[in-house]
Amino acid sequence: MTSLTRTPAWRALADHRDALAGISIRALFERDPERAARFSLDAAGLFVDYSKNPVDADTIARLVALAREAGVDKHRDAMFAGERINRTEQRAVLHVALRDRSGAQRIVDGVDHVDVWPQVAAVLARMRTFSDAVRSGAWRGHTGREITDVVNIGIGGSDLGPKMVCEALKPYAHERLTMHFVSNVDGADIAEVLKRANPETTLFIVSSKTFTTRETLANAHTARAWLLASGAPEAAIAKHFAAVSTNADAVATFGIDTANMFEFWDWVGGRYSLWSAIGLPIAIMAGMDAFEQLLDGAHAMDRHFADAPLERNLPVLLAMIGIWHQNFLGATSQLIAPYDNYLHRLPAYLQQLDMESNGKSVTLGGERVDYATGPVIWGEPGTNGQHAFFQLLHQGTAIIPTDFIVCMRPHHTLDAHHDILVANCFAQSEALMNGSRSVDEPHRNFEGNRPTNTICIDMLDPASLGALIALYEHKVFVQGVVWQINSFDQWGVELGKKLAVAIERELAAPGPVSSHDGSTNQLINRYNARRRAAT
Ligand code: F6P
Repeated sequence: MTSLTRTPAWRALADHRDALAGISIRALFERDPERAARFSLDAAGLFVDYSKNPVDADTIARLVALAREAGVDKHRDAMFAGERINRTEQRAVLHVALRDRSGAQRIVDGVDHVDVWPQVAAVLARMRTFSDAVRSGAWRGHTGREITDVVNIGIGGSDLGPKMVCEALKPYAHERLTMHFVSNVDGADIAEVLKRANPETTLFIVSSKTFTTRETLANAHTARAWLLASGAPEAAIAKHFAAVSTNADAVATFGIDTANMFEFWDWVGGRYSLWSAIGLPIAIMAGMDAFEQLLDGAHAMDRHFADAPLERNLPVLLAMIGIWHQNFLGATSQLIAPYDNYLHRLPAYLQQLDMESNGKSVTLGGERVDYATGPVIWGEPGTNGQHAFFQLLHQGTAIIPTDFIVCMRPHHTLDAHHDILVANCFAQSEALMNGSRSVDEPHRNFEGNRPTNTICIDMLDPASLGALIALYEHKVFVQGVVWQINSFDQWGVELGKKLAVAIERELAAPGPVSSHDGSTNQLINRYNARRRAAT
C-alpha cells in the first residue's frame, strides 16, 4: 500500500498548505461575505459553523478528495453492511444497528449470516419492562421497599457513556431515583457510594462486556458482600443485582440470576456500547421512551452520514478539518468546550471514544505510520475553562483546535444566566479568530487565527444528544479510515493490565522484590515496607 503521505491527495494538501500560509481566517472572511453560510451545515437537528477554520473552498475540496481517495465511503458502507471491519479482532462493527429501529435487516457477515435486529428488539423490550418496573416501584428490594438508588458498576465504555448521558439528561430524571456510577478500583469510589446507600433500596447494575474486567469484578464483589453483610439473604441478590454483558457464563458464575441479565454482542465495541443494554441506567433514570429518542437522534445522524455527499457530510467535514489541523498545521490536541453544564462529562467520554479508537501507530497492513494519528482530547465546560486554561488558547504557542458546543434554549428559566453563557461562548470563538493587536504592549497582544467549530443544539434533549454523540463517533471513524488504522481494537491497554496482575501478586511477597527494573522494584518494595509497617 502506498504510504498515505505519498498519495496525490495528500501531496495536493501539502502544496495547498504552503499556498494558504500567511492568509488569516479573518482575511478569508473579508474575501468572502458568504463565508459563514458557505461553511456551515445543518444535520440531524444540529447546526455546525465551521467557518472559523483556516480553510477555503479549495481546502475543503482537497480534503474531500483525500477522504474519497482513502475510500471513506466504501469503508462506511462496509461498516453499515456488517462486514468484519475490525480486522484484528475479526468482528463486525454494528453499533449503528442498535439505533436503527426501522427494523431494517442488518447481517453480521459471518458463516451464519444472522440478522441482528430481532435480538436487538428483544433486549430493548426487556429493558423497557425492567426500567418501567424500577421506575414505577413495581420492582422492589428484598424487604419490599421501592428502589431509590441505582449504582452502575462498570469502567471504560461500560461507565463513561451511560454516565455522560445520565448527566446530560438530568432534567429528565425520575424524582425518586438517584444514579451512581462506580468505576474506579480505588476503594474510595465504591466506599463513598455505599456509605450513603441503603441495602434495602439499592439496585446494582454490573456492566461489563467481557465480565472479566478486574476493576468491575472487584467492585461488584464488594457490593455483593455489603448487601449480604447487611443481613440480606443470598436470595436478595436477585432483587438487587442486574448485569449487562456478552458473557452469560461469567454472570452466572458471579451469582447474578441470568434472568436479570441484559445481553449485548461482540459486534458492539465497548466505547460504542451506550446504545445497547449498557444504556440501561439511562432507561431507568430518564425512561425507555427517552432512551429510544436518544437512539432515534443517533439514527438520524447515521442516515446523514450514510447518505449525504462527502462535501456536505458533517462527520466527514469535521474529521477532515481535524486532519487538516493535525497533519498539515501541526496541532496535536483537540479541545472540547461544551457551554452547557449538563455536558460536563462529554470531554471524558470523547477521550475514550477518540483516543482509544485512534491512538494507534500501526496501519491495518502492519506498517508503522509516518504521520500523526489521533489527537489528545481534553476539555471542560464553559465558562469554567475560560478561567483556567483559555489563557493558553489565546496567547500560548500551541494551536489548539476547539469545538464549542452550545444550546439555544436552556432547561432552566434563568434566562439572564443563559445569555451570559452564550455571549461568552460566541465571544471566545470571535476572540480566538480575530485576536487583538497591541504593538506597544506585547503582553496584551492576541495573535488570533485560532481555529474553532461551533456546534449549536436547539435544546439538549435525548434526540439531539444522540445526534451529537453519533456525530463524534463517525468523525472518529472517518479519521481512522484516512489514517489507515483500526479504530475498533484497543490492544494498547493490555500490557499494563497484564503487568498489574503480576505486581498484585508481588504486593503480598514476604521479601524484597527484584524481578523488575530498578525503579519498579523500588516502588514495590517501598509500598510493601510501608504497608507492613502500618499493620
Ligand atoms: O481496558 C479497556 C477496555 O477494554 C475498554 O475498551 C472497555 O470499554 C473497558 O475496558 C471495559 O471493558 P468491559 O466492558 O469488558 O468491562
